[in-house]
Amino acid sequence: MSKRTVANGLSGRTVAVLGAGKMGGILLQALLKNGLLSPKHTRATVAHEDRAKALSRKFGVTVGTDNVKAAEGADIILIGVKPQVVEEVASQLRGHVTPKQLVISVAASVPNSLIEKALGAEIPVIRAMPNTPCFVGCGMTAIARGAHATGKHVELAAAMFNVVGRTVVVDEKHMDAVTGLSASGPAYIYIILESLAEAGVKVGLPRDIATLLAAQTTMGAARVVLDTGDHPALLKDSVTTPAGCTVDGLMELEEGKLRVTLIKAVVKAAQRAKELAYAS
Ligand SMILES: NC(=O)c1ccc[n+]([C@@H]2O[C@H](COP(=O)([O-])OP(=O)(O)OC[C@H]3O[C@@H](n4cnc5c(N)ncnc54)[C@H](OP(=O)(O)O)[C@@H]3O)[C@@H](O)[C@H]2O)c1
Repeated sequence: MSKRTVANGLSGRTVAVLGAGKMGGILLQALLKNGLLSPKHTRATVAHEDRAKALSRKFGVTVGTDNVKAAEGADIILIGVKPQVVEEVASQLRGHVTPKQLVISVAASVPNSLIEKALGAEIPVIRAMPNTPCFVGCGMTAIARGAHATGKHVELAAAMFNVVGRTVVVDEKHMDAVTGLSASGPAYIYIILESLAEAGVKVGLPRDIATLLAAQTTMGAARVVLDTGDHPALLKDSVTTPAGCTVDGLMELEEGKLRVTLIKAVVKAAQRAKELAYAS
C-alpha cells in the first residue's frame, strides 16, 4: 500500500494535539504541510496563553490552553506533553472522551496502562515514540498498542506517522529501548556529524564543505543499509581496501572505543527512559 493510500485514512479526521511543544509541534507542522490534516479540523494546546497565541498565528489552527475543549469531538487526540505531565492531562480528559476516539501518546516512559487508568474508561490508547527528523519527513516512529486499541487503530496511528517517515509496530516492552536508540539517536548522530565536520576542518576543508561532506555521507551510508538490507559490517568491509586509508581510520575508532561508547549511550538512555514518567 502506498504512503498516500495509507495516509488517506486520516482525511477528514479531526486531530487535537495536547502539548504542541517541540515534538507535538513538529508532528503538527509536518502533517499540516503534507496536507494530511486541514487547519479547520486541527486544534492544539500548550500550557501558556502567549505561546498559544504565537502558535495559532504560526500554524493557522486553533491553539488554546484548555485540553478538554480541544479533545472533545476529536477523532485522534495526540498527547505531546512531558512524561511527568501525561497523567495529569489524561485525568483531565476522564469523562470527556469516548471509545470512538483514539488517544496517541508520544511521551517517553509512560505506559499505555497508566493513560488508560487515568482516562478511566475503555478508551483505545496507542503509545508512539517518534523522533525529531519527522520534521523533514525522515522520522522513525515505533508504536505499541494499548489494551483497548484494535488493529484498525494501529493502522490509523501508522498512517499518521508514515507521513513523516517510517513506522514500526513493537511490543510495548520494547518502547524504552526504542527511546534510547531512535528517539535519542539523532542527538548521537549530530555529535558524530559535528565531529566529522570538525575533522574536515582539521585536514584543511572549509567548514561548510566539511559539514556537507559529513552529512551527505551519513545519510548515504544509512540509505545503503536501508535499501540493501546488508549487514553494516559487510558494507564497512566494502569501503576498506587492504592496506588503504580507511583501515587506518577504523583502527583509530577502535582505539577510541567508539563502538562501546555508542552501545553504552543507548543503554543509559534506555535505562533513563524506564524511570522518566515517575521522575520529578
Ligand atoms: N523532543 C524529542 O526528540 C522527543 C522525541 C520523542 C518523544 N518525545 C516526547 O515528547 C514529549 C514532549 O517533549 P518535547 O521535547 O516536545 O517537550 P516541550 O517542547 O517542552 O513540549 C511540551 C509542551 O507541552 C506543553 N504543556 C505543558 N503542560 C501542559 C498542559 N498541562 N496542557 C497542555 N500542554 C502542556 C508545553 O506548553 P508551553 O510551550 O506553553 O510551555 C509545551 O508546549 C515528551 O513526553 C517526550 O518524551 C520527544
